Amino acid sequence: MTNGFSGPHGAFPTTRMRRNRFDAWTRRLVAETRLSVDDLIWPIFVCEGEGVSRDVASMPGVRRHSVDRIAAEVRRAAGLGIPCVALFPETEIARKSPDGEESCNPGNLVCAATRAIKAEVSGIGVMCDVALDPYTSHGQDGLVREGYVVNDETLDVLARQAVVQAEAGCDVIAPSDMMDGRVGAIRTALDMAGFGHVRIMSYAAKYASGFYGPFRDAVGSGSALGQGDKKTYQMDPANGDEAIREVALDLAEGADMVMVKPGMPYLDIVRRVHETFAVPTFAYQVSGEYAMIRGAVDRGWMEDRVILESLTAFKRAGAAGVLTYFAIEAAERLNQ
Ligand code: PBG
Repeated sequence: MTNGFSGPHGAFPTTRMRRNRFDAWTRRLVAETRLSVDDLIWPIFVCEGEGVSRDVASMPGVRRHSVDRIAAEVRRAAGLGIPCVALFPETEIARKSPDGEESCNPGNLVCAATRAIKAEVSGIGVMCDVALDPYTSHGQDGLVREGYVVNDETLDVLARQAVVQAEAGCDVIAPSDMMDGRVGAIRTALDMAGFGHVRIMSYAAKYASGFYGPFRDAVGSGSALGQGDKKTYQMDPANGDEAIREVALDLAEGADMVMVKPGMPYLDIVRRVHETFAVPTFAYQVSGEYAMIRGAVDRGWMEDRVILESLTAFKRAGAAGVLTYFAIEAAERLNQ
């Protein structure tokens, strides 16, 4: 036989792929990947004030909450079995500065929220972003000298920020800044401060993406950034091999888990990272991906089952888990 269809698995009509799809129970039996609540990390936005919950206009269904309301939100997530939340601050403009010193203030929004969560909720991890963009008046992730985001000087601030967050009770430090050498600098600082147990999930392959737009609205870094961009430190969307080098470096510097970001347009990178390194690889289904799916579902242009479908795709690509603004909704569905 030379038609290319015969082989160890036989050929049509002997082989009929549709047989295994005939009943719901066989479909369940042969399923190769299974999305579960254990795979979800829920990003939450923290804002100033008391008793405040404010919508994010470009992310319908997502709200920022003041510190006093955060624990209740996280309790809900813990009750659904979600293993971890990720905190992001909407820093008021008066607290922003060129050097982003507010990032190292032990009383800043993220630290206050972490303390509130640790005091009131158990059994759920708290992850905090390390980067300066929510705190800088120019919206860049690092210090700017003569118009350039400088690397090594920024590392000192990032390391201090990480330690301050660990002191507040943060379990996982997630550097999202894309400076060279930050994972090593943060690991050393954490260890020296007695936080050897605090994990690092590095945003190892983070692209200079347009899909972060709604997030920048949510934390107010978009208006600060203005016409600026992050192309001198975040990766070029055209590159894949470079992602492998980024991940290799972060692992060598001590990252416990790595992340690819954005998610859906970069599933090939998730797959390559997972296959190359066999380490816990996470994907961030970012704000723009959320906005696209939410917007289309809310208008009735797609059925809401695309939410679990999109999350399952990450698992199929090899992700250990997904950061997603759909975490609560997905958990509710998965628990049904
Ligand atoms: C901060 C940070 C960003 C996101 C996570 N951490 C924005 C950026 O780098 O500009 C994006 C998350 C999202 O879009 O959902 N460095």
